Amino acid sequence: MNDEIRRQFPFFQQPNHGRELAYLDSAASAQKPQVVLDALERLYARDYANIHRGVYELSARATRAHEGARKTVARFLGARNSSEIIFVRGATEAINLLANTIGRQRLGYGDEILITHMEHHANIVPWQMLCEQTGATLRVTEINDQGELDLDSYAALLGPRTRIVSATHVSNALGTINPLGEMIRLAHERDALFVVDGAQAVPHLPVDVRELDCDFYVFSGHKLYGPTGIGVLYGKQELLAEMPPYQGGGDMIASVTFAQTTYAEPPARFEAGTPDIAGAVGLAAAIDFVEGIGFDAIQAHDAELLAYGTKRLLEIPNLRLVGTAREKVAVLSFVTDIHPHDLATVLDKQGVAVRAGHHCAQPLMERFGVAATTRASLCVFNNKADLDALADGLLEARRIFHP
Ligand code: ALA
Repeated sequence: MNDEIRRQFPFFQQPNHGRELAYLDSAASAQKPQVVLDALERLYARDYANIHRGVYELSARATRAHEGARKTVARFLGARNSSEIIFVRGATEAINLLANTIGRQRLGYGDEILITHMEHHANIVPWQMLCEQTGATLRVTEINDQGELDLDSYAALLGPRTRIVSATHVSNALGTINPLGEMIRLAHERDALFVVDGAQAVPHLPVDVRELDCDFYVFSGHKLYGPTGIGVLYGKQELLAEMPPYQGGGDMIASVTFAQTTYAEPPARFEAGTPDIAGAVGLAAAIDFVEGIGFDAIQAHDAELLAYGTKRLLEIPNLRLVGTAREKVAVLSFVTDIHPHDLATVLDKQGVAVRAGHHCAQPLMERFGVAATTRASLCVFNNKADLDALADGLLEARRIFHP
């Protein structure tokens, strides 16, 4: 499938150091296929006006495009209803929205929020801020040396005061896939709400929020081949209906007087101001693109590249993989005897783009006793030649730093 898919990304048409760039940083942000760029252009060139406001045909067309995108997202996640889909700027904003609405509503002094040791800062800091505001306590589930969640530690930490559990579906730094089904079942036994950070999962795995039975699921568009600045908060209808607004402004109200304002029903209640209309339409095009490939093919491709990449990396002297979970997506994090930033700089000169650093997961790095790793993250447009370029680049770096 791969060459045909790669050709759909205009990005690869530009030469980079004499070859196609081996872009191995899709966990940070994925390149965009032509269909997404076309959808953005069509919206801005032909169907653009503000939505939910104009009575003229053009505004109705833009509104249909935007609300159609909401239906596409609902179908993609298996939501019951498109009113369970809130458009936000990204996964980060979605988690902040939850902390500031249902978090403030439900948490008090002595209550607990449970996260895991492999969370991205976006799923740590908003909860810490909520703890500061409410007097609640943040608790952390341990992981093992392979980077897998310790379900015993998790079950032991779930207590009568646990109000919210928030966990990543897939770790951005390790690639680990968490056993969400069991985690959610245990949390619900304790009447805790369960939030899933799906930012790294949606490009790799099919998600069905009804089957998972999570209360909230969040993701960003830009890692799913969509535009930046658009993301999704899914929430169960009955929970969204009880939640107070996040931001005030136009389009989120039922009526306004100087004495009192009443709020619109979800999703409008959580979408104050003119939204990213084109972003939503671009995201829907990205979802159509992913569904066109199909998750069976995506997962088979992922597994093949993960196995090949792991083998190639283990051939490099003094390289240690960080994150070797049995269930993982095609993310290869590693340390060597060369600093990750030096390594990434040499790789860049070889036409290989990787991320080096703490990956916005400093507590996780500390858990593995490293300050940073080098991370190659793969997606539908990558191929074995990209991984060969990575391995060659690593050998070249050895020649430079350890001649
Ligand atoms: N969260 C993104 C990453 O893992 C930026 O690189």
